[in-house]
Amino acid sequence: MTDELKDIYVDYILEHYKHPRNFGEISNPDFTATDGNPYCGDVIRIDMKVEEGIIKDIKFKGSGCAISQAAASILTELMKGKPLDYAKEFTKDDMLDALGIPVGPARIKCALLAYTVLKAALKKDSENQ
Ligand code: FES
Repeated sequence: MTDELKDIYVDYILEHYKHPRNFGEISNPDFTATDGNPYCGDVIRIDMKVEEGIIKDIKFKGSGCAISQAAASILTELMKGKPLDYAKEFTKDDMLDALGIPVGPARIKCALLAYTVLKAALKKDSENQ
């Protein structure tokens, strides 16, 4: 990746951090989970409303570093309006690709925190069925 391209992606992350998309809570969500990074105490909650297999609404709330919060914002943008199966099939690599910058081992937990919460929410629901 060229330095110029790297700068664009860093700007992209910071922009999401400063102006998070889909920030907030959903009352009576169909799917919800909260999880944190035990190393720093940062926490993310994700709520989803699903109708006829489509993610009609998704919101996140949390506090933490720029990467964790930007990843949550980017993830909710990707999920909104998509079939639930898209969320179920979404992989760690998809999440890292969506961030667009190489994430070193020290920041991988930050980058995947929202992803982990999303998967926990989906798992909890299938356990309840
Ligand atoms: Fe806490 Fe990044 S430093 S999630």
